[in-house]
Amino acid sequence: MLDRRAFLLSGLAMYGASARELFAAGPAVQNPKFSASPFTLGVCSGDPTPDGVVLWTRLAIDPLNGGGMPKQPLEVQWQIATDDRLSRVVRSGKAMASPDWAHTVHVELSGLQPHTWYWYQFRVGSELSPIGRTRTFPRAQSAVDRLRFAIASCQHFEVGLYTAYQHMAEEDLDLVLHLGDYIYEGPGVDKLVRKHVGGELMTVDDYRNRYAQYRSDPALRASHASFPFLVVWDDHEVDNNYAGLYHEGGAPVEQFALRRAAAYKAFYEHMPLRRASIPKGALLQLYRPFTYGTLASISMLDTRQYRTDQPCGDNVQLPCAETQDPRATMLGPAQEKWLMDRLNRSQAGWNFLAQQVPMAKLDRFAGPERRFSMDKWDGYEQSRSRLLKFLGTRKPSNPVTLAGDVHNNWVNDLRLDVDDAKTPIVATEFVGTSITSAGDGNELSPLMKAMISENECVRFANNHRGYVRFDLKPKELRADFRVVEYVSRPGAPIKTRASFVVEGGRPGAQEG
Ligand SMILES: [Fe+2]
Repeated sequence: MLDRRAFLLSGLAMYGASARELFAAGPAVQNPKFSASPFTLGVCSGDPTPDGVVLWTRLAIDPLNGGGMPKQPLEVQWQIATDDRLSRVVRSGKAMASPDWAHTVHVELSGLQPHTWYWYQFRVGSELSPIGRTRTFPRAQSAVDRLRFAIASCQHFEVGLYTAYQHMAEEDLDLVLHLGDYIYEGPGVDKLVRKHVGGELMTVDDYRNRYAQYRSDPALRASHASFPFLVVWDDHEVDNNYAGLYHEGGAPVEQFALRRAAAYKAFYEHMPLRRASIPKGALLQLYRPFTYGTLASISMLDTRQYRTDQPCGDNVQLPCAETQDPRATMLGPAQEKWLMDRLNRSQAGWNFLAQQVPMAKLDRFAGPERRFSMDKWDGYEQSRSRLLKFLGTRKPSNPVTLAGDVHNNWVNDLRLDVDDAKTPIVATEFVGTSITSAGDGNELSPLMKAMISENECVRFANNHRGYVRFDLKPKELRADFRVVEYVSRPGAPIKTRASFVVEGGRPGAQEG
């Protein structure tokens, strides 16, 4: 079984273009001419280090129909400068936009100054891209005193407008973390706010067109052009509630592996990821480490690719024996070990675990019966308990978990033993609401009201759309829940619905 699985995962030769093909300076068309600008999808940047960052763009004249580009590699020029008019250029070069990779461009820069704002632009032929802004991280040993960032997730295109992104682009941030559900895989549905082009996503072309449709939104492009992003996926980048190679609808693993490979390829193509994340068949290295001076360690985690199947039939259920299965895993053994090794070695004042699904134990059933969502950490009790025990005994400095997925805001205490309110709080959990998913919000749904009263660990919940803005200093983390009243029509103002503070050395958030 293992051999077959390994073959399935990495042996999908049809997607197996190598890193060499992608980045070698092949025979590219040097001065192509276009009938319209090919920079319809904007620019973005991501995965900063103290001396570099990834710059991204894609050439697409007809973005919703395969891109409309010639079936040849095209030469793209790039430059990066220390001012917003690009008069002080510090680096420039050439990259290749290959049809094998949907004419996307990933420029992996090094040699930049730490903790510095930069502006960048691409050119192909005589066409210029919009100018993007990005920022390198401080050196690991630098005693930086502040990091401002936001978390975003769940941006179903059909059910709402990206008003939240419009406001986010105006914020004073160093960084944005995207925690997944960047796209949704479903077919176009009539009578919603907007409509997906095409049917349910299955092929790499389907996924590419969907990313292009999402990036056609100017507010999303504006946020990308304003800040570097650290991205991870959740389920909808492939298919609802998939787990490893298990498809929700029970498709054979051989068939689902092909779909996952197509989805992962399009994800890599459209995200500002490093070469280390170039997919190999149905495998893509997405969990990865970041260090922001002595202030923060950020571990970007992947709770989809390596997890075992959801227990007890998935969805919201009474716990069954499977939720206690010690072989059940959310991270997979290699990622779990990597995370614990990293936390053990961490010198950072704050340790963020940026991942997808809520970790707090949350009874999601109003009334005396206790039912849990098997797709969250609640379905993987032993996996969660190993992690919380690790945090409680090894005590990495100020652990904070970040999640998305559920389309509401939550602040939760994570206790050493989630079933025993007398055990100490070992970490603080912030769950960020959706950008649009679930449509216009309200203060609290009836179920959420019940969940607040029936779950001791919940400090706050709210059901509006938006994002969470964080202001991190050595001695405190402040979280502002930024919300919009509606997403079904344009123009909603942004407001801070609530603010919470975690004091250094004291896990658990206080309203303030
Ligand atoms: Fe979602």
